[in-house]
Amino acid sequence: QAPVITVDGPSGAGKGTLCMRLAEKLGWHLLDSGAIYRVLALAAIHHDVDTESEEALVPLAANLDVQFLAEGDLVKVILEGEDVSGTLRTEQVGNQASKVAALPRVREALLRRQRAFVGEPGLIADGRDMGTVVFPKAAAKIFLDASAEERARRRQHQLQGKGVNVTFEQLLSEIQERDDRDRNRAVAPLRPASDALELDSTSLSIDEVIEQALAFIES
Ligand code: CDP
Repeated sequence: QAPVITVDGPSGAGKGTLCMRLAEKLGWHLLDSGAIYRVLALAAIHHDVDTESEEALVPLAANLDVQFLAEGDLVKVILEGEDVSGTLRTEQVGNQASKVAALPRVREALLRRQRAFVGEPGLIADGRDMGTVVFPKAAAKIFLDASAEERARRRQHQLQGKGVNVTFEQLLSEIQERDDRDRNRAVAPLRPASDALELDSTSLSIDEVIEQALAFIES
């Protein structure tokens, strides 16, 4: 089977950028598993399904009609025929995603869909439990972290670039709330795999993170 490299870590640590650059550099496929949880949260909102009801979410997860279309270095996400790429990235959807992601049977229902991304010549998998649960036999595992303050600063910068104004305090509290939920849930809690390289990107540039990740992968 084709090799997998996993990149896990909390929101805003820089996984998205690292994974995109690794996939480009190696010419491998990319799985943004967070987008799958986000799409499920959005589908629940569209269909008026309670994001805390495991019962109602499992069939929705199992039958999710979603397509990921690569367009240059962007990925377009189509949910039930509609382009939801923009709405998907909002903090509101991220927050709902972390609620549906805390439900064990929902995670179970999405496992096969995630594993189906594996293909030649290889896969870069971005998420929270890629190295611990979804691809425990991955060829290389990276856990990318950064302080909550730095992650909130990066998020604010990103949002300002899109013309969205949110206070630093609000972003920090949202990040901390989501971190708590992701780290303390009963199933697949956010934590480094025992064989993962742990990188703290708080005071590293994107290029430094990529350099260290590549050195580890090639070692
Ligand atoms: O972009 P950001 O890092 O803020 O979030 P994301 O990666 O899109 O993930 C959104 C939410 O989905 C996270 O807060 C997690 O609760 C959940 N998630 C998960 O549980 N497992 C994954 N493999 C990926 C995301």
